[in-house]
This record gives sequence, C-alpha cells and structure tokens, in this order.
Amino acid sequence: MPPYSPVLMGEYNFGHRHLLGIEGLSREDIEHVLDLADTYVELSRQADKKTARLRGRTLINCFFENSTRTRTSFEVAGKRLGADVINMAVAVSSMRKGETLIDTAMTLNAMHPDVLVVRHPESGAVQLLSEKVDCAVINAGDGSHEHPTQALLDALTIRQRKGRLGGLTVAICGDVLHSRVARSNIALLNVMGARVRVVAPRTLLPVAIERLGVEVFHDMKAGLKDVDIIMMLRLQSERMHGSFIPSTREYFHFFGLDYEKLKLAKPDALIMHPGPMNRGVEIGSEVADDIDRSLIRQQVEMGVAVRMACLEIMTRDLGNNPPVR
Ligand code: NCD
Repeated sequence: MPPYSPVLMGEYNFGHRHLLGIEGLSREDIEHVLDLADTYVELSRQADKKTARLRGRTLINCFFENSTRTRTSFEVAGKRLGADVINMAVAVSSMRKGETLIDTAMTLNAMHPDVLVVRHPESGAVQLLSEKVDCAVINAGDGSHEHPTQALLDALTIRQRKGRLGGLTVAICGDVLHSRVARSNIALLNVMGARVRVVAPRTLLPVAIERLGVEVFHDMKAGLKDVDIIMMLRLQSERMHGSFIPSTREYFHFFGLDYEKLKLAKPDALIMHPGPMNRGVEIGSEVADDIDRSLIRQQVEMGVAVRMACLEIMTRDLGNNPPVR
C-alpha cells in the first residue's frame, strides 16, 4: 500500500502559492503538513526511500547564505520524491559579478523550475524574489525574519515525541533578537495552542517581543521552571553589529544549558537546537548529547520528512492550477 491516504494526497486545499513564513498559515494548514510529513518519516526509514511524486519536476536550491542541514535536507527531500535537484553555487554565481537578486531570479525562472528554495541574508528578500517568478518559492531562511520549514520540523519532532503541541510550555532561549527560527516557532506554537516563553538577556531580545504572544524572562531559573520543551538558539554573531554579551564564558554561566539548569524544567523536559551548535556557549556537550533528553538528531531526521511534505504540497497546488507562463 502506498504510504499516502487520499485525504493526505489531494483533498486538502493548502491555498498558498509560496511558503514564505508561518505567519498566514492556519492550524489546519500546519496539521496538514505535519500529517503528510508523518508518512514521509515512515518512508524515509525504509530501505527503498524513493517515490515518484515529483518525477519530472525541477527544484533549484538557491542559498545566498551558508547552510549545511537545511540545504542538504531539501536536496535529499527533492531526490526522494524523484525531482531533479539543482544546487546553485552562489559563491561562483553571477551574483558575485554584480547581478541583482531580481536578475538572478529572472534567469532561474526562465529555466522553468517548479520550486525555488531560497535562503538570503536580508529579511524580505525571499518574498521579493517570489513576486518575480512563476514557480513556487519556499523560504529557507531570510535574515532574522522567518524560517518556516524549521518551525514545521520542530513541531513534527515535538508532536512525534509528546503526541501533541497544544497545552505544552516551550521555552525558547538565547539569541532571539537575531533568530528567524525563534520568530517562526513563536508564530507556529501560538497557532497550535502551546504556551511560549522566551528566555534571554535584554540585549538579545527585540523590543516589544511580548506582542508576539510570549512570556518574557531574563533569567533561566525562572524561565525554565516547569517547561516541557527547551529550545536553545545559537548566538548569531554574523548578524551582530557591536557587542551583545560580555563574554561567551559569562554567557554560558548565565544562559548556557547544562544539567543544573535542566533540573528546573519538568523531569521529562526535552532539549532542542536547530543547529549549528556552539558547544560550551549556549549549550553544554553533555546535555546536547544526552540521548534521553536531547531531540537534536531527531530534528534533523524530521527536517527531511517535513521538506518532502512541503515540496509535495507546493508542487501539487501548482499542478492543479498551473501558472500562466
Ligand atoms: C538556523 C538558521 O540558519 O536560521 N539553522 C538552521 O537552519 N538549521 C539557525 C542558526 O543558524 O543558528
């Protein structure tokens, strides 16, 4: 039997041409992605991992910023679905010769891709690009704005382990200011009925963050008390202009996750990190590698399944309503 039910396959109208952020997605949209992704988790654990759902389709990965897991997992996801996957090598592309983002978009568009997966250092750049092309665009991270597939894979990881998202208390800790992962997760967890806390020094929180529907803590002791999930964030020094923390040693002392701080959370609380990790800065190695408490490896596995689901949904909708070229 194929690993899809007819309901998962086609009945649900996702209704979004692009996946630019979690903002704008409904609870049903999110559940639809997660339900479909569940089937791809199963498929990815089999010896034969391939389907032909995207045969004949072309996916172009355009990463204008470094990435290991996100780019690789989109590539694996596309290939498992039978698509042709092209990784644009930005370091040697014409962008380096001064071509604008829009010219690059128009060039890629002329090759008739079905999906463009785009990461860019500027917030809003992916949306701008999506307005210029005929195919579906998936945001793989734009500046400190959104990273929707990361939030979806985090949600899938939590749901698989805890059985639900609603009613859980999730603490997002660290460099929230520069984090697109935090923004997308805050939006998703709120839609799904989880309680969200952010825990960080004042210098690493955006002003008026509570307007996003979070409780704010400046101290790990209070912030981690009785939480179900702890999401640690990397200190994103590449986005920092100036000094945000006194020293990484002091930062670890106050905000780094170790067993002592973990004790404050619920006894069955689980640890997450989107990667890449700075061991000894925001997270200690012993907790990061604790197979009973850390979900970091599962997050990577769920990343492929979620991206397969997103690729299928975005191309399915286009297939039903082909754009005028
Ligand atoms: C995150 C990103 O790039 O936004 N990483 C990822 O996609 N797995 C987080 C980070 O870089 O710290």
